[in-house]
Amino acid sequence: MPQPHLYVARTLTPAVMAELDDLGLPVVAGEEAPPARDRLLAGIAGAAAAIVTLTERVDAELLDAAGPQLRVVANVAVGYDNIDLEAAAERGVVVCNTPGVLDDATADHTFAMLLATTRRVVEADRFARTGRPWIWGPNMLVGLDISADATLGIVGFGRIGRAVARRAHAFGMRVITSDPGLNVGDAVDGVTVVGFEELLATADVVSLHVPLLPSTRHLIDASALARMRPRSYLVNAARGGVVDESALIDALRSGHLAGAALDTFEGEPRINPEFAGLENVVLQPHIASAGDRTRDAMCRLAVRNVTRVLAGEPAETPVRTPVATA
Ligand code: GLV
Repeated sequence: MPQPHLYVARTLTPAVMAELDDLGLPVVAGEEAPPARDRLLAGIAGAAAAIVTLTERVDAELLDAAGPQLRVVANVAVGYDNIDLEAAAERGVVVCNTPGVLDDATADHTFAMLLATTRRVVEADRFARTGRPWIWGPNMLVGLDISADATLGIVGFGRIGRAVARRAHAFGMRVITSDPGLNVGDAVDGVTVVGFEELLATADVVSLHVPLLPSTRHLIDASALARMRPRSYLVNAARGGVVDESALIDALRSGHLAGAALDTFEGEPRINPEFAGLENVVLQPHIASAGDRTRDAMCRLAVRNVTRVLAGEPAETPVRTPVATA
């Protein structure tokens, strides 16, 4: 029997790829692009551990293809909606994610998107590139003043939501949050906890920071969008499935929402082409955690989780049972 290997589904950062040789176990590594399903099934067969990313669906079929010696699956992402936790638990496989190390990078990018949509940064860049004649004017490309008493509503007050709140406070925004784990009326880190309905009705900008769970799928649907303030903004650096994209397109088209900034999409990597025709949406190809040190830290944490479980120790960041809705 060959020694069970570590399967690495996709090329990690260069620094971490170089360190894999020191682990003392055979490594089978995929490529930069996500492996096709048959390559994934073949690559994981006989593995003791697997490092995957959010592009790999880890389900009963994949776990069975790996075989009974599989001990741990480490996701290079804080989100884990690509992994069937129940199927893993049934097979005694530990599942890990990468919380903590990406909070600042993700919050930075959330804030970049918030500014980009409210101050029309990308739209202005597109305009400037057209070569069309222009002259400064009081009414040209006017957006929302976020520091003039604007309210940010953070849906989901976990680590990333809190990091976004710190940035918003520095910009002078009023910040409210809704989170099922917090009591309405409390103040946490200077942020007032409100109900989801009040957040929708009050916020000038709604920013989503919940995991994708059955209970959060399409949390922002046509009805929730209708309950948002007229001419408000939506920012989504969580998961595409939290938003009903067709309903969002309608709300952007009608002008009920002034704008949106999206880092994630329901059918990734496909982006609904209707978005591309809208001037008031900022589109990002799922890069909110793509800071240089952050990506190294995410990959290193995945490797540490693997080595600890293979050494018979508890994982550093095993996925814990998720809290449900917003
Ligand atoms: C990225 O989307 C992540 O979940 O870390």
